[in-house]
Amino acid sequence: MSTKSDVRILLLGDPGVGKTSLILTLVSEEFPEEVPAKAEEITIPADVTPERVPTHIVDYSSQEQDEETLQAEIVKSNVICLVYSVEDEDTIERITTFWLPYIRQCRGEEHSNPIILVGNKSDLLDFSTMETMMPILNDFAEVETCVECSARTLKNISEMFYYAQKAVLHPTAPVYNPEEKELTPLCKKALTRVFKICDLDNDHLLNDDEVHLFQVYTELKRKCFNAPLHQQALDDVKSIVKRNITDGVKENALTLKGFLFLHTLFIQRGRHETTWTVMRAFGYDDRLQLTRDFLYPKIMVGSGSTTELTLQGIQFLKMVFNKYDEDSDGCLSPPELQNLFSTCPVMPWGQDVNNTVCTNPNGWITSQGYLAQWALTTLLDVPRTIEFLAYLGYQYLHDSQVSAIQVTRDKKIDLDKKHTSRNVFRCHVLGAKSVGKTSLLQGHLGRNLRYLATLEKEHLSTFTINTVQVYGQEKYLMLHEVDVVVSDMLNPTEMNCDVACLLYDVTNPRSFEFCAKMYLKHFIDSRIPVLFVAGKTEYPAVRQDFEMTPPQFCQKFKLPPPEDFACLDKINKDVYIKLATMAAYPHVRDVVLQNDRLFMKIGVGLAMASVFGFIVYRITKALR
Ligand code: GTP
Ligand code: MG
Repeated sequence: MSTKSDVRILLLGDPGVGKTSLILTLVSEEFPEEVPAKAEEITIPADVTPERVPTHIVDYSSQEQDEETLQAEIVKSNVICLVYSVEDEDTIERITTFWLPYIRQCRGEEHSNPIILVGNKSDLLDFSTMETMMPILNDFAEVETCVECSARTLKNISEMFYYAQKAVLHPTAPVYNPEEKELTPLCKKALTRVFKICDLDNDHLLNDDEVHLFQVYTELKRKCFNAPLHQQALDDVKSIVKRNITDGVKENALTLKGFLFLHTLFIQRGRHETTWTVMRAFGYDDRLQLTRDFLYPKIMVGSGSTTELTLQGIQFLKMVFNKYDEDSDGCLSPPELQNLFSTCPVMPWGQDVNNTVCTNPNGWITSQGYLAQWALTTLLDVPRTIEFLAYLGYQYLHDSQVSAIQVTRDKKIDLDKKHTSRNVFRCHVLGAKSVGKTSLLQGHLGRNLRYLATLEKEHLSTFTINTVQVYGQEKYLMLHEVDVVVSDMLNPTEMNCDVACLLYDVTNPRSFEFCAKMYLKHFIDSRIPVLFVAGKTEYPAVRQDFEMTPPQFCQKFKLPPPEDFACLDKINKDVYIKLATMAAYPHVRDVVLQNDRLFMKIGVGLAMASVFGFIVYRITKALR
């Protein structure tokens, strides 16, 4: 349950305060009249410690150890019990005049390893020194608490070691500010994220069912199987909150305010472990940062493979969309989008996303566009998808984010077997300057030139992604505009695509030559299918300055004939279907579209398979 695998407790203090006696008393449960200068290091096995973590207890003796070993021990320890004798003023003084500054000097001013003040020999006084120690607790934030005990009478001995262990496993400083009597800002932020993830219906309340699920989850994460709170206990908790603050409970469910209040109360009553259990279940480390293991579980992706979302990943992301699409209009308004990412440290999507995927006429991302953007992120930057799934609470409903990611098999195998199960394809759009690459990309989102003229140019993206029907199956086609200045310079990443679209401009007589040269130099011997596209066909074509006409060129190299593309008003969508189909079936040379339905010169087996796929698609669509 903790990120610590064991706890190392070091006892420090002036000679004769009773350090060795305390250790030996703990072990033998009786007071030893005679003790050595220094006790051997002892290890308490996990199963007999209250927090189930192996615990080492280390003694110190100035008679036996030099300063260098002392410093090394201070650095190695997780918690220090700073012992003084309650009846010896000098040892109390030395806490502030020597020991605390000395420990800071060894560990650095900013160290957060806790220190516990231990007043030993309480049997010799009939009053308490606790009052005099209080100012020290205020002046030295690293001092977690203060306890009086006696090795002779065994008073508070096991308590002292329990506090020490607790101070390491459930430290106060990161979660609570004792001066302000308030949770720290970081703790509030973390608990707010937890609240939002657990508020599955996004009504800003945790109802009994949501609390129940939350408890089952945290218990599971602790690997403890305590039954969640009974209804009676839950009702009691709510009435405590109600009695103490206003707006803590609404409609018989906990508000965020009530949830934060409860945790303040737990900590004020010394039940830090409750808050820490929640923190750890939701991926936080001792400094309330999400751990690397939680954010980035390892997945292996070979160089020929790509990454896509699994059905489970898609379903989770859809669930998140529906949760935050409060007016259920199928789009995320700017505040809805902000809310959706409010459990994340930063807003990952900038203005450019609105021009990468489909939006409604207001420029708000639609449900289709939202999923497409995730498909794009997963293809180009899978660690980012994995990271954001964690922020969004994927692990709360599923296991590790690994189950949201599909690693596809090596492309070489797909090519050899003439079959792919990929759903996301990458198309690079190449061509000379101002042939209309951006317009082709935006046309993929259904945006014509008249609409484009209304957009701010600086937010245009070099990527667009949308779904395309390939034999009745929904596939994602990602278009990437690659800026090439000279046609014979393409680097390997610029060639890393499933299909290439070489775009020329029918009004520019030099633009075909640019594409033809690029084809001859880079693609002729590659296994990448290539489609020549003739852009701006709403204008009269000029003669291309090249030894062959574009159709002759395509015929000569057994390429599909150039596809016309216009987007002034009506957009020729066949281009995208052809590109996606060529990406999915790279071995098929000639893709022909007739009456908006797709035909290919393909083998019977494949044709049958696709008919079958189409029927399945129809049936599933009808059932939806
Ligand atoms: P150094 O090893 O020299 O640093 O001392 P220490 O801190 O280990 O002290 P140690 O355990 O040797 O105890 C010093 C003296 O205090 C011994 O005579 C103990 O019997 C006595 N003593 C330790 N604890 C108690 C206690 O709780 N009550 C009383 N009355 N005497 C104690
Ligand atoms: Mg000793």
